[in-house]
Amino acid sequence: MLHFLWMSDFNCFTGQLFIDCAMERKGICFLLLLLVVHIKALKHNIDIHQPLSKIAIHRTAILLDSSVSIDATPVLLGLEGKHADYVTVTFKRPIGAAITDWIGVFSPASFNASVCVEDLPVTNRDFPPLLCTAPIKYQYANYSSQNYASSGEGFLKFRLINQRADFAFGYFSGDLYNPVLLAVSNTVTFADPKRPAYPRLAIGNVWNEVSITWTSGYSLREATPLVIWGTEEKKDAYASGAGTLSFTQKDMCGPPARTVGWRDPGYIHTVSLKELWPNTRYHYKVAHRLQNGSFIWGRDGFFKAPPFPGEDSLQRVVIFGDMGKGEQDGSNEYNNFQPAALNTTYRLKEDLENIDLVLHIGDICYANGYISQWDQFTEQIEDIASQVPYMIASGNHERDWPTTDSFYKNTDSGGECGVLAETMFNMPTKNKAKFWYGLDYGMFHFCFADSEHDWREGTEQHKFIENCLASVDRQRQPWLIFVAHRVLGYSSDKYYAMEGTFGEPLSRESLQKLWQKYKVDLALFGHVHNYERTCPVYENICVSQEREHYSGTFNATIHLVVGGAGASLSEYTPIQTDWSIFKDYDHGFSKLTAFNHSTLLFEYKRSSDGKVYDNFWISREYKDVLGCDVLKNCPSTTLAS
Ligand SMILES: [Fe+2]
Repeated sequence: MLHFLWMSDFNCFTGQLFIDCAMERKGICFLLLLLVVHIKALKHNIDIHQPLSKIAIHRTAILLDSSVSIDATPVLLGLEGKHADYVTVTFKRPIGAAITDWIGVFSPASFNASVCVEDLPVTNRDFPPLLCTAPIKYQYANYSSQNYASSGEGFLKFRLINQRADFAFGYFSGDLYNPVLLAVSNTVTFADPKRPAYPRLAIGNVWNEVSITWTSGYSLREATPLVIWGTEEKKDAYASGAGTLSFTQKDMCGPPARTVGWRDPGYIHTVSLKELWPNTRYHYKVAHRLQNGSFIWGRDGFFKAPPFPGEDSLQRVVIFGDMGKGEQDGSNEYNNFQPAALNTTYRLKEDLENIDLVLHIGDICYANGYISQWDQFTEQIEDIASQVPYMIASGNHERDWPTTDSFYKNTDSGGECGVLAETMFNMPTKNKAKFWYGLDYGMFHFCFADSEHDWREGTEQHKFIENCLASVDRQRQPWLIFVAHRVLGYSSDKYYAMEGTFGEPLSRESLQKLWQKYKVDLALFGHVHNYERTCPVYENICVSQEREHYSGTFNATIHLVVGGAGASLSEYTPIQTDWSIFKDYDHGFSKLTAFNHSTLLFEYKRSSDGKVYDNFWISREYKDVLGCDVLKNCPSTTLAS
C-alpha cells in the first residue's frame, strides 16, 4: 500500500531538510524528500536547451494512487557484459489517463537525502512538497500507445545505460510543469553496475602520448584502476596504473548542477600511454584489480598512435561544435536536437576508418547541470572516442557561470562551471580550469582557444595564443589551424548581425593581427548552429576572389562556422556581406584532409546523409608561407648582407 503524508507535516518543517516518509512497493524503498527551494532562483536558471529543464521537478506533488500501476521488466540488465539494455515499462491508470501523463526514469531508484540540500535558502517555500532529484530522462505515456488516454494502459521501451546505480520509473500526471507523482515502479539494475565504461582517448602533452579516460563505480579503496596495453603482436606487454578523480556536489557552482540536477558522477580514471611509436596500432584494455587480486575488465579496443610532427602521410581530422546528445529510444525529444546529434554520431561511426582525429569544439553534451547526461553522452560517442582521439574545447554550456571568472556571466553551464568538462575529458591543458592548449598532429598544428575566458590583448590567453601560433615550424607543419567555441572571427548569425559585430564583440579586434601575422590557414568556430565559409578575409575585406582552390602565397585566414552538429539551428541575418561565400542552414560537420605538405582539402558534410555540400582545396609550398602575403605583411629585412 502506498501512502504519503505531507500536508499535515508541513508545519513541522524546521530545518534544512525533512524526509517525510518512505513508501514501499514490491520491496522497494523509495524515499521522497521535502525540501525548501528558492523557486524563483530555480525558475530563473532553467535553460531552454536542456529537455530535463522543462520538467518542474521541484514543484512535484505526490498523490500516490493504489489504482495506478507501473512495472518494469527485466529487472536484471547488462548480462554478458553489455553496458546498454532495453527495459519494457507497462503502466495502467484506470481513471483520469491523459495525453500529458509521462514516465520519468530515475537513477538511483531510491532517492538520496544528500541530494540538493545545502545551498538552498529555507524561505519562500512556494510549492510543497518537492521531489528532489530530476529524472535522467522521460517520455510521454502515449508515445508507444496511441489510445492510452482512452484505454488508460500503455507501455514504453526505454534504453538504459550502465550509470553505476539502479533505476525506477515514476508515473506522472499533470504535465511537465505541474508534475504529480502517481506511482513508482519496481527497480531494475545492471548486473555489474560499477563496471568500467565509456573509454575515451585523447592526445597528451606531447605528440606520442595518448591518454585513456573512463568512468567506473570503483573507488580507490575498493580496486586499483589500470590499463593493460601493447602492440597488436604483444597486446599485454604493459600495465599502467591510472589516476583517479571525482568531484562532489559542493564543487558545483549553482543550480541545477548543485540541486535537482546533481547525480553522483562515479570515478573518472585516466592513464597516459607514453613514448608510443608513430602510426603504430595499439591494443588496450581497461581494468580494475580488486583487493582479492581478481580483475574486473572493461572494454578493450585498438587505436593508431599519432604521426610524428611533420610526417608526410594521409591525415584526416573531423571538426564540429555543439553536437549534444540524443536518446535512441526516442525519449527527451526536443527541438529537433536529438535526430541531428545522433545522425552526426552515426555518420562518424560509419566513416571511422577514414578519420584519424576528432575535434569537438565546445558545447559538448548540453547537460547544463543535469549531471546524468554526461554518462549518456560518453556512451553515445564511445564507439568513436574509444578508437580515435576525441579532443574537446570549452563552450558556454560547459563553463559560463555568474560570480566566477568566466568571461561571460550567464548561467549557460547550469552550475557546472567547467568541472564536468575538465574532469570527464583529459585535455592537454596546463591548467584544467584554463581550457586552452596547442596540439600537434602530423602536418597539422592546432591552437585551441578558450572563448569562455578573456582573450584580449594583455591577457594570459592572448599571450598563449600568440605563442602557440608562433611556435610552429611551417616547413614541417604547414597547416596551422585556430579553433575556438564562440565565433571569434566572422559569422552571419542573426544576433551577431543585430549587434553589428558579425562575431563575438571585441574578438576580431584582438586576434586578427595574430592570424594574419602567423598566417593561420583556417579558423573554425562553433556556437552558431549552422555552416558558413568566408573568403580569405582581413578587416572585413576579401583578399582573394578564389572560391574553390587557393594556391600560392598565403593571403588571409579563411573562417568557418561548423556549429551545426546537433543543436537546434541558428538563423542567418538577411544581410549579405562580401566575405560570406557559402552558407548551409542544416546540421553538419567538417573534415580536413592533409594529403601532404602542400595539399589540404576541406569538406563540409551534412549529418543527414554524410554527403559533401561544400569543399575547397589549398595548395601551398613552404616558400609561399615564407614570403609576403597579399597585404605586404613581409618578414623584416636588413640592408646588411
Ligand atoms: Fe555555445
